[in-house]
Amino acid sequence: MKDPVGHFRSRIEDKSLKVAVVGLGYVGLPLAVEFASRGFATLGIDIDKRKVDSVREGRNYIDDVDDSELAAYVRSGMLVAEDNYDSIGTCDAVFICVPTPFTPNKEPDISYIVGSSKEIAKRLRRRQLVVLRSTTFPNTTEKHVLPILEKSRLKAGKDFYLAFSPERIDPGNQKFKTKNIPTVVGGIDETSTELTALVVGQSVSEVVKVSSPRVAEMEKLLENIFRSVNIALVNELAQLCDRMGGINIWEVVDAAATKPFGFMPFYPGPGIGGHCILIDPHYLEWLAKAYDFQTNFISLAAEVNESMPFYVRNMIQRELSFKPISFKKAKILILGVAFKRDVDDTRHSPALKVMELLLQDGAGNISYNDPHVPTANVDGKTFSSVKLTPRLLKAADCVLITTDHSSYDYESIVKHSKCVIDARNATRNVKKGREKIVLLGDGK
Ligand SMILES: NC(=O)c1ccc[n+]([C@@H]2O[C@H](COP(=O)([O-])OP(=O)(O)OC[C@H]3O[C@@H](n4cnc5c(N)ncnc54)[C@H](O)[C@@H]3O)[C@@H](O)[C@H]2O)c1
Repeated sequence: MKDPVGHFRSRIEDKSLKVAVVGLGYVGLPLAVEFASRGFATLGIDIDKRKVDSVREGRNYIDDVDDSELAAYVRSGMLVAEDNYDSIGTCDAVFICVPTPFTPNKEPDISYIVGSSKEIAKRLRRRQLVVLRSTTFPNTTEKHVLPILEKSRLKAGKDFYLAFSPERIDPGNQKFKTKNIPTVVGGIDETSTELTALVVGQSVSEVVKVSSPRVAEMEKLLENIFRSVNIALVNELAQLCDRMGGINIWEVVDAAATKPFGFMPFYPGPGIGGHCILIDPHYLEWLAKAYDFQTNFISLAAEVNESMPFYVRNMIQRELSFKPISFKKAKILILGVAFKRDVDDTRHSPALKVMELLLQDGAGNISYNDPHVPTANVDGKTFSSVKLTPRLLKAADCVLITTDHSSYDYESIVKHSKCVIDARNATRNVKKGREKIVLLGDGK
């Protein structure tokens, strides 16, 4: 094709460009809704029929998406959902937003990327642009996705275009959403980068072009590893403060954060979770081994962060050892099982890990409350969120705050509880009853 960029530009200008989003989860659904909101007919594809049915019925299932917006785009036909790839040939740009988990041995599992790429390859047509958005290790786009797509007998860079453009969405973040987060784009060639920048630029405020997909892939891992390493540092210091006594890590971090340059606050907690910061460092760690390179820094950070649920489990056991009740019979109430504040995502949640460890140690009376998570599975057992009442709090021998949801009334939680272990400093503003609070990183 002579002028693919001009062709895409004119399709964008007259709004005839059609977009496909493969994978309608935390990343894909907000992206699909964003494109639909900009007036582009959008096809969402997911192998999970429940999600497809939900979208078709205009029922939203992702907190970051506005219920009425989704329903309106479905009603107007701007957003269509399918559980197969049959119509993907009608789309100009295809975004792959499928999961990238790790195996039980913490090695990358890119089978979802491979699976979706194979489906796309079967239907790939000339002039299509394919953009991988799932977080993955460097060279996935060029060495895994590209050869699969070329099985279509079309040539990348000549017949179709390919790029990596990582997702930066932060579920639950009220200030930054898909549209106002700058987005990095790296194509396999200049045309692929330009086309991706053009299309991505329709749904985000700023596009940052880099020289290749592998730079974009590494950049995304750097972002997440940066967080992992810094969280690990404060988690380590929290443990030191506990050991020393008399120094509150939260006060230390807040004081350091007053430095107007060269410092960024990170806070300790019961561990990290979700689909990104816990998993992504292991992607690079695994890749580095193929180059006889040990990512010591990254591995150490993961080790510290992954030890935190064990540390919090020990805090509970210690507090209960002061009480005239056996660990088996003690009533332990967990507050917040989502992996972070104000979301419903429990993937790799440290709270669930703490519950699992307590169960394995023989705790026989655990319950949880989470306004965002009605049920949770731990070690093959299904728990349902219990109603948070003064009576429930009074009855508990130990209340553990694992997730600092903003809807909780922390004054009331402390007032009615006998003992509160606070792994998030959620009770920082509570004045009365502080003697009942055991704060992670406070040394008391
Ligand atoms: N969740 C986040 O906050 C976030 C942020 C940045 C990047 N990411 C990255 O984005 C990617 C997607 O994450 P997510 O949180 O949206 O995952 P998710 O599990 O919420 O959604 C993925 C969706 O893909 C679907 N899917 C799986 N295989 C498929 C296939 N072959 N064809 C079509 N659909 C398929 C699943 O059914 C699921 O609905 C991951 O690589 C993740 O690391 C996630």
